[in-house]
Amino acid sequence: MNEQFTYYIPTKVYFGPDQIGHLGEELEKYGKKILLCYGGGSIKRNGLYDKVVKSMKDKDLEIFELSGIEPNPRIDSVRKGAEICRKENIDVVLAVGGGSVIDCSKFIASATFYDGDPWDLLSKHVVTEKCLPVFSVLTAAATGSEMDAGGVISNPETQDKLGGGAPGMLPKVSFLDPTVTYTVSTKQTVCGSADILSHLYEIYFVPEGQSMYMLDRFMEGMMRTVIKYTPIAVKEPDNYEARENLMWASSWAINGFAGAKQQCDWTCHPIEHEVSAIYDITHGLGLAIITPRWMRYVLDKSTAPRFREYGVNVFGIDPEMDTMEAALKSIEMTEDFLFNTLGISSTFTEIGIGDENIPVMAEKACKGGILEGYKPLNKEDIEKILRACL
Ligand code: NZQ
Ligand code: ZN
Repeated sequence: MNEQFTYYIPTKVYFGPDQIGHLGEELEKYGKKILLCYGGGSIKRNGLYDKVVKSMKDKDLEIFELSGIEPNPRIDSVRKGAEICRKENIDVVLAVGGGSVIDCSKFIASATFYDGDPWDLLSKHVVTEKCLPVFSVLTAAATGSEMDAGGVISNPETQDKLGGGAPGMLPKVSFLDPTVTYTVSTKQTVCGSADILSHLYEIYFVPEGQSMYMLDRFMEGMMRTVIKYTPIAVKEPDNYEARENLMWASSWAINGFAGAKQQCDWTCHPIEHEVSAIYDITHGLGLAIITPRWMRYVLDKSTAPRFREYGVNVFGIDPEMDTMEAALKSIEMTEDFLFNTLGISSTFTEIGIGDENIPVMAEKACKGGILEGYKPLNKEDIEKILRACL
């Protein structure tokens, strides 16, 4: 297949320590009134808040705040933020946080120009003509929201967690300082890495012709990077080399470069979003539990060569090994990395999730039809994968 694609990611990235001094001068190019969005307070505890505010004050920018954005951000936070933007005539939405804060800020920027309920942007795929410029100061390596145009928002009333996006939501400028991630907890560090890996699996395990040799090797290199550096970051949270590798991998796993040729659906992500919609778990934790079950479920004669290729190039499995044996070994090594090396909980039962919502989660994950992923999955298939997670 010779698919065409367009790659255009114009986010300007300031990478490395002490670049935050450039924040004020960059914001100033877009306006004077800034809505500073952040989460539950980690940025106040680690000193980042003060640096962000200083850089803005140095340029006499006017600062408004929206704090308390939740992990798995709620639509109510989007509503609140959009209201402030309209009332105060905000010029730029500045997200300082992880994926949740950045995602919420993206939808605030768009919802500012929408007359109806912001939930329509997710549930009815409304794309507004205008969108306020979004800036991000990333604090955790995981989602890649700092360099993509999408976001995911939860609605507790309907128990939905939906994704959406538009080119206008792509951050204009993102600040990536690995030292800011020194304070990320072990749990969020390992779950963030499981998320990065999953973004890569979603675009690596695709039908033939939807990747290319050059991108395959690039993705395997990034998987090796995450596998090499996550245990180091856990052991030494202030290891700069580990944190910088994870941070840059987070952005490049999902910014559209490696997945440029992909046509098929993602699979583990839509399934996980249904789990975190109901149980409010950390996204990467859900993915870590689901991924190896999905791998085992889709493994057959037709997919085994790809799993073998992954195992050989990422885990160093003997290339002479029988194809199916090597494929199984690579799935075992994935499990061993996630559950033993990183110590992530390996079952739903362990994290208090039972089988009560499996049919509804499966139905919603495939929207009552078929997830046209690496292997097409219908509701029954997804139910089986979810049951294997218990
Ligand atoms: O809220 P604060 O106090 O800041 O604490 C956060 C939060 O409790 C904490 N944290 C973040 N940076 C820290 C820190 N703690 C100490 N030091 C720091 N430097 O970590 C906790 C989790 O933060 P969150 O932003 O929720 O994590 P993550 O970055 O993993 O984002 C997850 C959200 O992004 C969505 C997920 O579904 C989930 O809602 N995703 C967004 C994507 C995108 N935009 O492209 C793609 C992903 O696949 C994903 O679905
Ligand atoms: Zn993800």
